[in-house]
Amino acid sequence: MKNFILVFSLFAILAVNADQNPYHLNKRFTSTFGPCFFPTELLTVTLTPDPPTEGTSTYHVSGRINGNTITAGKTIAAVQFLNGSAYAMSELHYKTFDNTVAPGDEFSIVVSDVPAPKFPCCNFEFYVIVIVGDPTDNTNKIQEYGCSQTHLFS
Ligand SMILES: *[C@@H]1O[C@H](CO)[C@@H](O)[C@H](O)[C@H]1NC(C)=O
Repeated sequence: MKNFILVFSLFAILAVNADQNPYHLNKRFTSTFGPCFFPTELLTVTLTPDPPTEGTSTYHVSGRINGNTITAGKTIAAVQFLNGSAYAMSELHYKTFDNTVAPGDEFSIVVSDVPAPKFPCCNFEFYVIVIVGDPTDNTNKIQEYGCSQTHLFS
């Protein structure tokens, strides 16, 4: 799964620009998931416990993917922590869908036991990014269908 981490980070570097970040002047300590900066379907994400700064959290991910099928045994929902410069701070934690969902139909999936990385002391800026997509034959690429991210401080 290391290759996935690399690709996700590259996307995030393009996607996350602190100067454009509407939350930049407003430090948040609990999650508010919103659009990623590249065009995909917006996912609805809630987690418990929130904030995800200690121990493990369980992520409830739902939404609709218009124009693409979620395929049982193939499509994944993945969670990753990024630092304030959008570099990966954690392994990719993911769950593979075990049901197929037609384009436009509502899906939901739970990614449980996602551990928080070790944060440097005090008000450390980070992102949690959640993506639904298909791993491709090229191990360096995930085809992304949906995404949501939150900007947080530890
Ligand atoms: C994020 O991690 C990268 C790679 O380890 C590092 O170069 C960068 O300074 C870090 N940024 C922040 C804001 O911590």
